[in-house]
Amino acid sequence: MKGIILAGGSGTRLRPLTKVTSKQLLPVYDQPMIFYPLQTLLTAGIKDILIIIAPDHAGDFLKLLGSGKEFQAKFSYEIQDKPEGLAQAFIIGKNFIGYDNVTLILGDNLYEDDFSEAIRTFKSGGRVFIKKVPDPERFGVAEFDETGKVISIEEKPKQPKSTYAVTGLYIYDNSVVQKAASLQPSSRGELEITDLNNLFLKERALDVAFVKGAWLDTGTHESLFAAGALMRKKKLG
Ligand code: DAU
Repeated sequence: MKGIILAGGSGTRLRPLTKVTSKQLLPVYDQPMIFYPLQTLLTAGIKDILIIIAPDHAGDFLKLLGSGKEFQAKFSYEIQDKPEGLAQAFIIGKNFIGYDNVTLILGDNLYEDDFSEAIRTFKSGGRVFIKKVPDPERFGVAEFDETGKVISIEEKPKQPKSTYAVTGLYIYDNSVVQKAASLQPSSRGELEITDLNNLFLKERALDVAFVKGAWLDTGTHESLFAAGALMRKKKLG
């Protein structure tokens, strides 16, 4: 299993904090934001990690994270020239992924959960993790049938069909490389991870699990503040 951290994008929602640096380098209590998703992958036993970054602050990521030796891991880097969507990670990462399975984590998603078991037991298809949220319209949202099975996922729906968000950690088999290459940009001009997940769903190959502990997408000032407060509480007890 290989790992990808997607840490590009322009962080416009967090301006002016992101005017001179990248969102994923901002402090979350006592560590740069990207340390948290990185720790999630390392704890899950993933040591071969590709970090996808925007051109503007590439040097800063390299300075912060280096070769990975310090973390007993191996880091590779790729540039995403423009933020053309989360699913583009599998096009940019094609050579890195090779013939392996891959776990993608978003560079601004913070989890308490340990994913070792979910990754160890993964065989094929895709596996995503959902969490009940008060503001589903901000996320990919799962739709369930009467038996509780997920039948579709909608990206940022105005009228969400449930309050379960698909969170930013995704486990896929190698077919993700081909599936990502077949996607067309959405109306907002992005290759959507939700479209990718719906391709796996159509093949009845998407497993949906629940996030047990806290999950934070730190893409807004409020959630960034909440993430800092949570990490402080965890450290200080
Ligand atoms: O946080 C989970 C949500 O992440 C999912 O529920 C949604 O289905 C998924 O589309 C995504 O929504 P966001 O609105 O949070 O995506 P955002 O554009 O904020 O991008 C998430 C992270 O990925 C952020 O750290 C920036 C980075 N990114 C984003 C894009 C579009 C890239 O590195 N490259 C990109 O092209």
